[in-house]
Amino acid sequence: RGAAGVGPDLAGRHVVVTAGGTREPLDPVRFLGNRSSGKQGYALARTAAARGARVTLVSANSALPDPAGVDLVRVGSAEELRTAVTAAAADADAVVMAAAVADFRPAAYATGKIKKKAGQEPEPLALARNPDILAELAAHRPRPGQLVVGFAAETDRVLEHGRAKLAAKGCDLLVVNEVGESRTFGSEENEAVVLGTDGSETPVPHGPKEALAETVWDLIAERFPGLSE
Ligand code: CTP
Ligand code: CA
Repeated sequence: RGAAGVGPDLAGRHVVVTAGGTREPLDPVRFLGNRSSGKQGYALARTAAARGARVTLVSANSALPDPAGVDLVRVGSAEELRTAVTAAAADADAVVMAAAVADFRPAAYATGKIKKKAGQEPEPLALARNPDILAELAAHRPRPGQLVVGFAAETDRVLEHGRAKLAAKGCDLLVVNEVGESRTFGSEENEAVVLGTDGSETPVPHGPKEALAETVWDLIAERFPGLSE
């Protein structure tokens, strides 16, 4: 595959994809989490490998089978994802943050299981902000020309929120999709618009997550600087 239809257009590239959803531990048996299945990130990893890239897939708590031909790094929390993706990004040509990273974590981790006390109301749960990994990656690129791509899930005013988010994150492309109770999370299909810092706006019609993944790699490939020998 490629613009001219010849050869794998991502050959010679190292790409890093994050997938799934982080779990923020509260005690040894409990966590705060989200409903991300990992399907979009795994589709991105598979399609990049099929197009010739070396792929590192940083997977947060996905139950999906390990994709063939991909370096898989399993993580749990946002902090673990940050460490893994930052290490993998050091020599990457592109980083695609498809994972749903928890915005907050429990402010304190209890090393023993939290017990209820007879006749007492529960304590309110104190939360702390997690680092914005995408914004950090975009602000501190270890290689010139490295492309950083984010995903945004929005429930309303999707384009308006997407544009603001693209600017706030400082990434090159933002894939914006609309989510709701039964939309997108865990489903096989996706509908999105990919916003670029260059002002581009690429609508991706409702269809399989593979099709969105291919469009994302098309947009990345056409923005890559040339390969040096
Ligand atoms: N992201 C991240 N680190 C975080 C939160 C989000 O790297 N702590 C990344 C996600 O992987 C995604 C992008 O940022 O690629 C957008 O995530 P989203 O939750 O839509 O954005 P937020 O900035 O967290 O905004 P919101 O308040 O709408 O959740
Ligand atoms: Ca968020």
